[in-house]
Amino acid sequence: MEKKIRWGILSTGTIAHNFAKTVRQMDENRELSAVASRTAEKARAFAAEYGISKAYGSYEELAADPEIDAVYIATPHSEHAHDMRLCIEHGKNVLCEKPFTVDAKQAAAIFELAREKHVFIMEAFWTKFIPVYRDMERILKNGEIGEITCLSAQYGYTVSPTLAVRKLDPHLAGGALLDIGVYTLGFAAMFLGYKPEKIHSFLQLNSVGTDSVSSMLLQYSTGQTAQLTAAIQTTLPTWGAVFGTGGRIEVPNFKNPPFIRVFPNGKEPYTVERPFDVNGFEYEIREVEDCIKNGRTTSAVMTPEQTVAVMGMMDTVREQNGMVFPFESNC
Ligand SMILES: NC(=O)c1ccc[n+]([C@@H]2O[C@H](COP(=O)([O-])OP(=O)(O)OC[C@H]3O[C@@H](n4cnc5c(N)ncnc54)[C@H](OP(=O)(O)O)[C@@H]3O)[C@@H](O)[C@H]2O)c1
Repeated sequence: MEKKIRWGILSTGTIAHNFAKTVRQMDENRELSAVASRTAEKARAFAAEYGISKAYGSYEELAADPEIDAVYIATPHSEHAHDMRLCIEHGKNVLCEKPFTVDAKQAAAIFELAREKHVFIMEAFWTKFIPVYRDMERILKNGEIGEITCLSAQYGYTVSPTLAVRKLDPHLAGGALLDIGVYTLGFAAMFLGYKPEKIHSFLQLNSVGTDSVSSMLLQYSTGQTAQLTAAIQTTLPTWGAVFGTGGRIEVPNFKNPPFIRVFPNGKEPYTVERPFDVNGFEYEIREVEDCIKNGRTTSAVMTPEQTVAVMGMMDTVREQNGMVFPFESNC
């Protein structure tokens, strides 16, 4: 029988619950072996909810558990680098939530450490693994909408004021750019590439110094452009589109779309649907497991170079707008 990957979950927050729920709905080819929280009580409650046998009251205990193959890290952005380092130093394979770190330099250092320690590492950028994107790539390659000229993506949500405080907290590397702007940049990069020639941006900074709205325009050496907007406390329908000389492809919910709409000029529009097995989370989880089982330390779909490139774009945008987190040196 094939070896099951034994997962550990680091944190008990919102997306950690989604991860556990998703794994519970997938087939039996993996185990949820342990969960860790900064407080033992939260870890125990989480473990009880999902039938996880081990609950740790510190992240260190999870990292040191020799019976864990991979750790899913779902802490705030500011903590990712520290938590990944902890797991990698203990020889753990890692799947870490987006944005991978707070900047490109940190990201590159973490990838280097993982390389030295021969462990698998990947940013949990689930968008890259959503099946309908393989159809979209094929349609674009076939020239159904001609040559790509430009692209758009927007995503903005409204949450309770209490949750917004956490989402925007500069001490946790909050703000729309790092929280969800990363999706818009990742979408642009998937179709136009990871090296825009120029980035023009404007961040609407709030009273705590993070961005409530990010507006970005990427310009590529090909002449192609991407217009991207992300917002917290302003609802923008989650929507992306790639435009070409012969039509367009619209991607509602572009961060994890189960379908796309193709509008070739002069022809009937049509829909391509790829319903999820569970909720879209399952594909990146399977990718991590396949890589680990096959002895790979990085994914060929979501590569370290791509993660570092997108982090670099966010560095540029922050620099252009003077958005510095309190834990960063200003000099
Ligand atoms: N892929 C997606 O669709 C998706 C969706 C939402 C979020 N995310 C990403 O997942 C990560 C977590 O987001 P979330 O919405 O799940 O956050 P959340 O609900 O606030 O949970 C974060 C958890 O991190 C732990 N933590 C460690 N240090 C902390 C600190 N200093 N302050 C607050 N919490 C701390 C806490 O768990 P313990 O108390 O148990 O230690 C907390 O419950 C972020 O990187 C976010 O961007 C991804």
